[in-house]
Amino acid sequence: MGFGFWDFLANLRGVHTNRREFFQFLAASTVLTPSVRAWAQQLAVSHEPFVLMSAKDALQVMDFEEAARRVLSPAHWGYMASGVDDDLTLKANVEAFTHIRLKPRRLVDVSKPDLSTDVFGVRWETPLFICPVGGQRAFHPQGEMATAAAAKAKRHTMILSNVTTYAVEDVAKTLGTPPWQQLFLSHKWAATEKMVKRIEDAGCPVLVWTVDLLAGRNTPTMTRFARQDTRNCVACHPGGAGTPIFRPMYDGLDGRFNPPDATWATFDRLKKLTRMKVLLKGIDSAEDAQLAVQHGVDGLVVSNHGGRAAETLRATIDCLPEVVEAVRGRVPVFLDGGVRHGTDIYKALASGARGVGIGRPYIWGLSAFAQDGVQRVVEILRAELTLTMKQMGTPTIKDISAARVARA
Ligand code: FNR
Repeated sequence: MGFGFWDFLANLRGVHTNRREFFQFLAASTVLTPSVRAWAQQLAVSHEPFVLMSAKDALQVMDFEEAARRVLSPAHWGYMASGVDDDLTLKANVEAFTHIRLKPRRLVDVSKPDLSTDVFGVRWETPLFICPVGGQRAFHPQGEMATAAAAKAKRHTMILSNVTTYAVEDVAKTLGTPPWQQLFLSHKWAATEKMVKRIEDAGCPVLVWTVDLLAGRNTPTMTRFARQDTRNCVACHPGGAGTPIFRPMYDGLDGRFNPPDATWATFDRLKKLTRMKVLLKGIDSAEDAQLAVQHGVDGLVVSNHGGRAAETLRATIDCLPEVVEAVRGRVPVFLDGGVRHGTDIYKALASGARGVGIGRPYIWGLSAFAQDGVQRVVEILRAELTLTMKQMGTPTIKDISAARVARA
């Protein structure tokens, strides 16, 4: 039913207080021209309240961010969403992808896209992997178990955090195979030895030592959110808010980690300790990449901890080319940080990454919809990557090269 002039006037007198209703009203008004009504209709849609009733309603990964914010307590939201200081590294990671442009090739048969790639002799269905994120019971009671179930369903490699809230042995059962295991070095070498032995016994093929948090960090945004929270959260902190979270990997061990005196000699020691492949996570310069290869590293993850370690760092996608160049193909280089779209994954692959990781995006999915949310996040990214590969005239991973990107 259309609305006439008097209704229009009534609206201007303030009958419609809500913007969306107001634009809906204009769209239905017979006194306006069709083009103005069409414009009003567009505005009405853009003011629709955000609703994500199920994971499958999501159209883009970013839809999950707001869904997660709505279900998480301020402290848990702040723990996940924040970076350090003014959160500039975090923002840079995301923004830097927008400064890289794609350069398509035409008239290539892209009818059979193939996303598979080879990592350490194992075939990955896609180059996308799940980054280690600690304390996942803070986001959903099923925590890392839901993430593992999603990784299994979609056949993605999962790196389990050292500060997981479910133990590696349990996660391995749910995942159907031992995960890659991330490590924070303990202050006491004896604790590191026991931890590494436990990880090895669980059958993990790859150990990923995170080296970007050894100097400590400053997290005002996280603290501000935590101060707004009045709950005594025993779901993830056994001793209540303010006490450490569930950390089954530290059972019986000295729980202090990230010793500031670790050096390349420590890496040599760690490498000798285990038969697992050892990766370094948080290598962002050519100099360190060269040193790492000289010391026998098996692979590198270009990462700045999702902007959670140091402030005003370069975006990881901007660090990637120099690391790849320094490594000269001797070991695989992976990247994480700021990946939110299939085009971001494509740009990282074109810049030399063998695999590309996501952190917060799957945590948003986990928070809002448990396993379904994580699955939908990786499904969207996979579909977007497939589309980008076809649009760029590069139907296989091997076809993707630096020639397909231009930096502004
Ligand atoms: C992390 N990250 C992380 N890294 C790690 O090596 N061990 C860990 O325990 C954690 N924990 C953790 C918690 C939370 C809440 C976040 C958001 C991140 C860093 C993670 O592995 C990855 O490097 C970043 O999350 C990638 O950036 P994006 O995808 O979040 O932008």
